[in-house]
Amino acid sequence: MKTIKDVDIAGKRVFFRVDFNVPLDANLKVADDSRLTAVLPTLAYARKQKARLILSSHLGRPDGKVVPEMSLAPVAKRLGELMHADVRMAPDCIGPAVKILVDAMKPGDILMLENLRYHPEEQKNDDAFARALAELGDVYINDAFAVSHRPDASVVAVTRHVPVCAAGFLLGKEIDYFDKAMSHPKRPFAAVVGGAKVSGKLGALENMLAHVDKLLIGGAMANTFLKSRGVAVGKSKIEADLIPVAETVMKKAREKGIEFFLPVDAVVASRMAPDAETTVVSIEDFPADGMALDIGPKTSKLYAKALGDAATIIWNGPLGVFEMDAFSRGTLEMAKCLAASRALTIVGGGDTDAAIHKAGVADKITYISTGGGAFLELLEGKILPGVAALQQADSRR
Ligand code: 3PG
Repeated sequence: MKTIKDVDIAGKRVFFRVDFNVPLDANLKVADDSRLTAVLPTLAYARKQKARLILSSHLGRPDGKVVPEMSLAPVAKRLGELMHADVRMAPDCIGPAVKILVDAMKPGDILMLENLRYHPEEQKNDDAFARALAELGDVYINDAFAVSHRPDASVVAVTRHVPVCAAGFLLGKEIDYFDKAMSHPKRPFAAVVGGAKVSGKLGALENMLAHVDKLLIGGAMANTFLKSRGVAVGKSKIEADLIPVAETVMKKAREKGIEFFLPVDAVVASRMAPDAETTVVSIEDFPADGMALDIGPKTSKLYAKALGDAATIIWNGPLGVFEMDAFSRGTLEMAKCLAASRALTIVGGGDTDAAIHKAGVADKITYISTGGGAFLELLEGKILPGVAALQQADSRR
């Protein structure tokens, strides 16, 4: 896959697909600009090359309609502050008015197009829409890892219509780190998988079995595994239909000699509420009316020990309801455990990323992915449509 450094962008109109799908606060100000800062190296490089920067993104899910609260204007403003430059906001992402703005751009100028998803064609990977986007650039750069699992027009179809296509530094870095961990891991290689549902992580679990030496499970999904081992988990959430699947995953892990870890204790409460009364119980003594809402301290210790000799660790999914302080300890301890580790540590997923920041250890993790769904699809062993499109564009030219 070519990167921006492999193509000539000097003085050219460069059409960027970035993922500026960021949270906005009640005053419509950018509440978290990490997806903006993540592409600054690419944008700075392009400006140094005197390219004209045309930036496209989606924000939220406006479902093909103009929803003013989902305008990218606040994002353009924040980006301007971060780049110490003027970022002009376009009224749309295609059409004559946008074309006029693009034609007037000088080298180094930056234009932010309006939300791609105001047009229903974007998420239909519509070819005519992609062609209209493609008209705005001489070169197409995908630096939107977090949306590269979506086969959208600005991610996939557009690559058929711009003569030169390549990846930005962020997309390149995300794929490189992931590849380094999955294809050539330093061993022992451990994965920590949490989150609410086995069903959401099944593809990832099955794929990880082909790569890892240790698999550590947490979050509500652990309950289904515990249940399949005959543990009474009280009122905890389980996916009864997936009990046989959980058994199969554990059987495969055994056959492959993978060390498979499940919680040995839990923080339980009779309801999921910030002020609920909590107790720590060993999983053998689970109260009939209790719900497991976090891993317990013995599990944290056990998991820290299991990760002690790991040389590569991937973590996706919180180990408890970490948004509520009463159930956040296990997840925060895991964040600190990764931060203290000498292993190559890779973390992905919106909640896991939030937990790392909440624990204040973001600077001690080797790589924090900007992707949620995209990261999960990599864990599942899939090739992202956006990456495949760039590879095909390479092979056509
Ligand atoms: C994300 O935030 O995960 C990406 O921007 C993709 O957004 P989507 O799930 O609305 O397609």
